[in-house]
Amino acid sequence: MCGIVGYVGSKEAAPILVQGLRRLEYRGYDSAGIAVVGNDGDVHSLRRAGKLDRLAEAVEAVGPGGTCGIGHTRWATHGPPTVENAHPHLSNDGSIALVHNGIIENAGSLRTKLEQEGVTFRSDTDTEVVVHLIDRLWEEGDTLEDAVAAALDRVIGAYGIAVISSRDPGKIVVARNGSPLLLGVGKNGEVLVGSDAAAVIAHTRNVVYLDDGDYAVLTAEGYRTYHIHQGQVQRKVHEVTWDLEAIERSGFDHFMKKEIFEQPRSLEDVTRGRLLEEEGSARLGGITISDRELLEVDRIIITACGTSWHSALIGEYLLEELARIPTKVEYASEFRYKNPVVDERTLVICVSQSGETADTLAALREAKQRGARVMGIVNVVGSSIARETDFGVYLHAGPEIGVASTKAFTSQVAALALFTLYLARRRNLSILEGRRLVKALQELPGQVAEILLQDEAIEELARRYVDSPNFLYLGRGFQFPVALEGALKLKEVSYIHAEGYPAAEMKHGPIALIDEKMPVVFLAPKDPVYHKVLSNIEEVKARSGRVIAVVNDGTEELEGKVDHFIRVPETHPALLPILTVVPLQLLAYHVAVLRGCDVDQPRNLAKSVTVE
Ligand code: G6P
Repeated sequence: MCGIVGYVGSKEAAPILVQGLRRLEYRGYDSAGIAVVGNDGDVHSLRRAGKLDRLAEAVEAVGPGGTCGIGHTRWATHGPPTVENAHPHLSNDGSIALVHNGIIENAGSLRTKLEQEGVTFRSDTDTEVVVHLIDRLWEEGDTLEDAVAAALDRVIGAYGIAVISSRDPGKIVVARNGSPLLLGVGKNGEVLVGSDAAAVIAHTRNVVYLDDGDYAVLTAEGYRTYHIHQGQVQRKVHEVTWDLEAIERSGFDHFMKKEIFEQPRSLEDVTRGRLLEEEGSARLGGITISDRELLEVDRIIITACGTSWHSALIGEYLLEELARIPTKVEYASEFRYKNPVVDERTLVICVSQSGETADTLAALREAKQRGARVMGIVNVVGSSIARETDFGVYLHAGPEIGVASTKAFTSQVAALALFTLYLARRRNLSILEGRRLVKALQELPGQVAEILLQDEAIEELARRYVDSPNFLYLGRGFQFPVALEGALKLKEVSYIHAEGYPAAEMKHGPIALIDEKMPVVFLAPKDPVYHKVLSNIEEVKARSGRVIAVVNDGTEELEGKVDHFIRVPETHPALLPILTVVPLQLLAYHVAVLRGCDVDQPRNLAKSVTVE
């Protein structure tokens, strides 16, 4: 969601803040702002509505000097993306500036009270109450951290905040409760704060992840961490394993395209060291639960949001088909409000690229509270979901910056396949079948690389359908979630209305939409339901629909019935989604680019949704 950055040290803060915001822009891009305690001792703030470039130009022109400052890029929750609603928010006397990520739930009542006390509000945000509270509660002799602690004591909700003040200059106070925040420990005492590592990586790889209830005081001499109930605490310094290049476009026009093309490598990385050829099984160091405990599990629930929910659906097919264990998939946002049937024999798997999605995190906590064992399939190391689950599997896909998830999706499916293999071999799966899967997993990176060679042909295809107002995506079995994901990708980046459906279910509704203008993307690889899908293709063709089919080789029977073929190599049917989704990612990408859409920052979306 919103991005936070802060810097205190010996260098000019403003350029560092803008650079940090640039790396965070994928988290929110409605408006942005910075504030620094200037060389004159006052707080100077600059905010702009719209994309970050507008702020960067203003900073270039005005260049507020000073070595201690905070910055923010916003994804609007309360109030439209105007300059008044952009962060930082200032106290009425302009001496305190604050940036915030999250939602203050009791903002309404606090605001009424503060207004009665004579405070003037300048924005519609929930955030602004916090800065006024700090101001009102700051007593003679208090430090900034004293005043922040007093204010947070009255606040209910989720927050990651960073605050500076001319009353206690040279210091940033940060606090976390439910929204991600980390410190970047730089050279010679300089310290940064960021809502994720991308904000600080240009300066340091050494990061300290704050826990809920933590706050920290940052100065040019270093930092101190505290917990609201435990007083001063030491938090471990972790090393970020990826480098700056991972969050740069490296010659690609867009992050989305770069990340689509990174999939051969990310698939290599997710399986590296985890495949046991002889045993036909997987080695997963993060599964710290004993085999005995694992075999006690009699039911699995996978919970996630967005694209991760689609990989969860594939996980359901994998686990039921290969490990023969009842598995259900729940939208994280629904799970916690439906009194879920969960007990200590239930394994709840949370799938999340960012590890910070608020609904998934809430579902995790709900499941834990009900006694379930909770496992994570997460990309971002050290993220909240990764830390709160009992055990898990990291994707090691590297940072994903494009708002539309691509490489994380294929890595999630691969990780779910690895876990399925791990579990199935302990339950029922034969060594031969296990070896078959291991071999297929090893071949995936090369096969994806082969599919990527069709990029230009897919661009050509995109050109033909760029003006279609609707698309339909159809698939069965393992390919049904791929149909959903293909439709979501197109919708997210091109704003074309697209629906994914189980191919046969189409007859119960969407078939009414089909005419000669309607492109219908069929997932029709050679899997056990291939012949069933052929009948569905006939049904669409009989109504003059335009058929684009993703197929394996040897599909003579489809000649004359399909307008366009996209071919993918053959693999184990359970792994086919990892191959068939790739052309759909490319199709969505090219259609969006041809329509002039901003594929990396599609309107209204955010990479990581840290509000419910
Ligand atoms: C947002 C992103 C999606 C992502 C979803 C879940 O909606 O735009 O790309 O799939 O959140 O995010 P997660 O980080 O939990 O996988």
